[in-house]
Amino acid sequence: MRLIFLGPPGAGKGTQARILERRFGARQISTGDILRENRARGTALGKEAEGYMKRGELVPDALIIAMIERELDSSRDGFIMDGFPRTVAQAEAFDALLARKQWPLDAVVLFDADRKTLVDRLSSRWTNPRNGRTYNTFSNPPRVAGVDDDDGGALVQREDDKPETVSKRLDVYDEQTKPLVAYYRTTGKLAEIDALQSVDDVAHQLAHAIGLEHAH
Ligand code: AP5
Repeated sequence: MRLIFLGPPGAGKGTQARILERRFGARQISTGDILRENRARGTALGKEAEGYMKRGELVPDALIIAMIERELDSSRDGFIMDGFPRTVAQAEAFDALLARKQWPLDAVVLFDADRKTLVDRLSSRWTNPRNGRTYNTFSNPPRVAGVDDDDGGALVQREDDKPETVSKRLDVYDEQTKPLVAYYRTTGKLAEIDALQSVDDVAHQLAHAIGLEHAH
């Protein structure tokens, strides 16, 4: 399966990518998680990305495209792109990479939600910094507050989930990423999901949209 998850910060792209990964062995490629790992390891890429991420801006296209090119080398069995592409330039570069490999996309899934819901979800999100798994104080709390259910380690609030930065990220989405909705609509592969529903309902809509509803 070769999928792109498109949608604003907090729409639930990462949550649903991890569900598909667990159920169907699909490989989630989250550009945000890869960048955060690079920052934690102090790589050159991590250092370059840091300022942009702290401000809620996009990391420059050239860095992201090179990063994706490396990831695709180990994606022969498919991928779920979570948070990429985010600009028209990234989408065009990705089309060219996929065309060269003769790997057509199966679908581009748009997670649609209103701004108030997104702000609420991000301000109550808790993240496991070791693997990117997320929880939510209201909709999906961990068994013990502040502690990951599986590895027992501490959960953190992402520094870019502060209200000012969330607002900036949502503006950046509207300006730079939303044009991709029209871009992918012309391919006939765009599937729209109502991301305001519960996690289970969204998972159900998603399975239906990509033709996996009977594949449990
Ligand atoms: P990234 O890490 O990709 O962040 P994002 O796109 O802003 O997405 P989020 O992780 O915030 O949201 P999500 O949709 O995955 O929601 P989640 O499932 O966690 O990017 C971070 C930064 O990296 C960017 O700002 C940029 O600087 C840089 N970057 C990354 N990719 C880049 C690129 N391609 N180009 C340039 N720069 C790039 O859910 C959110 C919360 O809601 C959680 O608490 C969850 O438990 C809860 N929740 C989920 N679903 C539901 C539901 N259905 N009902 C109720 N609650 C729910």
